[in-house]
Amino acid sequence: MDPKKKHAQKIIIALDVKEKKLALDLVKRLPHVRTFKIGLELFTSEGPSIIQELQKQEKKIFLDLKLHDIPNTVAGAVRSGFKHRVSMMTLHASGGMNMMKRAAEQAHELHEKTGDPKPLLLAVTVLTSLTRDELKQIGIQTNADDQVLNLAHLAKKAGMDGLVCSPKETKMIQKELGDDFLLVNPGIRPLWASSDDQKRITTPAQAVENGADFLVIGRPVTQAPEPSKAFGRICRELDRA
Ligand code: C5P
Repeated sequence: MDPKKKHAQKIIIALDVKEKKLALDLVKRLPHVRTFKIGLELFTSEGPSIIQELQKQEKKIFLDLKLHDIPNTVAGAVRSGFKHRVSMMTLHASGGMNMMKRAAEQAHELHEKTGDPKPLLLAVTVLTSLTRDELKQIGIQTNADDQVLNLAHLAKKAGMDGLVCSPKETKMIQKELGDDFLLVNPGIRPLWASSDDQKRITTPAQAVENGADFLVIGRPVTQAPEPSKAFGRICRELDRA
């Protein structure tokens, strides 16, 4: 089987671009990719119309807005995500048990009522960009790993479907929480790509070997001179692993 077809289900491409035209150009160049991640920059620039444009092309949407607000407001945003039929959404576990619970209940209620598919709700624990000093500045005295595990437990209890986490954290999280919790890894860098601002990285093959369910990959593909070739190279590497 063509490696691109075989591994396309597992790889989510991050459309971190400033406008629709650039996003659609990337989507066109990456016909095998099933799911695209729309984040803060593109969504703030284009609004829900970018979701609809991609859905017209039968793409799935991972809406990565990292929600963090009072429970009622976050539940409302989940309702809107449901309405737009997004496949995955993110929220900050540090928003607390009630916030996550209300979000999960809202998604379940709408699914029961309409029969439409429920977006997977993924919790973000500790941003991979935060250093130990920065954690202290915001009042977190424990080390990052303990904080990740605290929040991971909370997220599972609250009914989240999984976590966004560093590929370096996968094994530690699965040891604590079991492997029935989806783990989605950014921080993926093939050996031939620049690490950019990512710190706790692994190769795509290592991330899958560690137990990732999905890989989120941005710049190694989207900033490559030929995105389709870069995507193909990653798929072939996964095939050999
Ligand atoms: O370009 P790159 O492969 O680094 O893109 C990674 C994507 O994953 C970006 O859209 C970034 O916002 C997102 N992300 C991350 N680290 C997290 C959560 C999300 O890099 N902890």
